[in-house]
Amino acid sequence: MTRDTQGGFEVEAWGIMAKLLAFPMKPFLLLSCAAALASSFTAGCAEIIRPGEIWPDDRGRHIQAHGGGILEVGDVFYWFGEDRSTNNPRGVRCVSCYSSGNLADWTFRNQVLKLADSQETGRILERPKVFHNSKTGKFVMYMHIDGPMPGESGGYKLARVGVATCDTAAGDYKFLTSFRPLGNESRDIGQFIDDDGTAYLISEDRPNGFHIYKLSEDYLSVEKDVCLIREHLEGGAVVHYDGLYYVIGSHLSGWKANPNVYATAKSLAGPWSEFKNIAPPEQNTYGSQSTMLLKITGTKTDSVIFMGDIWKQHTLWDSRYLWMPLEIGGGQLRLPEPHGWAVDVKTGETHLEK
Ligand code: DGJ
Repeated sequence: MTRDTQGGFEVEAWGIMAKLLAFPMKPFLLLSCAAALASSFTAGCAEIIRPGEIWPDDRGRHIQAHGGGILEVGDVFYWFGEDRSTNNPRGVRCVSCYSSGNLADWTFRNQVLKLADSQETGRILERPKVFHNSKTGKFVMYMHIDGPMPGESGGYKLARVGVATCDTAAGDYKFLTSFRPLGNESRDIGQFIDDDGTAYLISEDRPNGFHIYKLSEDYLSVEKDVCLIREHLEGGAVVHYDGLYYVIGSHLSGWKANPNVYATAKSLAGPWSEFKNIAPPEQNTYGSQSTMLLKITGTKTDSVIFMGDIWKQHTLWDSRYLWMPLEIGGGQLRLPEPHGWAVDVKTGETHLEK
């Protein structure tokens, strides 16, 4: 086994075999993995995703894609998020990108954005989300930009979105601009692409609530406020599943976990149902905060994956990920207790470990 360092701690770079042997699995999964291994190291064996653990990339380093989002292009998933490595240059905010074909094994692709602090870009860059515009061919990244107002020395008052673009998914993004969507404050953002391809930005606006904005045709600006839900929710995410929209978000408690909630509606414009907890409230979303709802449309079924962050406020680079397939349908949504699990991205099926 090789060793590597990242973000101030050491993790082991384990091989596929070591992973399979180290993890307790359902016997059938273990057998099928062993059979697959006998013929090939790649064929047919779903890797286990382990919520809350160090998640090593292809280099053996803990993935740095916090507060992130996933963009699916063809058979490839791209995971973008905040890179909180301690060796990033001082005063520079970084976004990293990883790619995967199975959602479990991730290859580091690039630090796609490195943004130096300035009056326009502030000192906070959080929750990057990337859209692909099929008309312009551009990859368009939105992010939360924050910091003091020009002329002030402290605070968290800019409350803007930043926009950066690139011609390829994992290339070097060029920062274009920052603004307040339709003049409204914007802190945590989320992304949603509807079944017809329309792109939406979800945004927390402290004075007013939770917006679902439609992006302009080129995705470079915000065109319309499709819905303002008068609830104060961060880490917002939306999914369309079996004819219903589900919106999810966390209450505002800084880095501390709280009971995340959901509501449903037949249309993005609402009316939205009352908000309910996604897990027993005393569990505080099992220590995590929502960042995205990822729908896997498979040949056999559709699954929705809750993507959350387990923040470690004082060692942000060591923050973990809580991804779990949701129990969802008929207007109900439940986050199961975290377990090891696997997904077959072709069929859409997920398997929980016992
Ligand atoms: C909660 C947000 O969801 C995070 O992205 C981050 O901004 C923390 N607040 C900072 O306290």
